[in-house]
Amino acid sequence: MATYTNEERMGHVRTNVELEPGEQCALCRCFKSGKFPFCDGMHRQLPGELGPVIVKAAEPKPTPPPS
Ligand code: FES
Repeated sequence: MATYTNEERMGHVRTNVELEPGEQCALCRCFKSGKFPFCDGMHRQLPGELGPVIVKAAEPKPTPPPS
């Protein structure tokens, strides 16, 4: 399950998101989400075509068998 923490860094709030391999999250770029910085679907009620940024953690690549 995705987890996040907020931290202050040089006077600014920074959000760190940790994802499990294959997991994804949607980041808001309309600035109207009640769960900002995460998308809560509010963009669907706005004019225009703007939607979230989808971030996905890569799955680990299978290890090739020894030759
Ligand atoms: S709520 Fe802002 S992009 Fe979805």
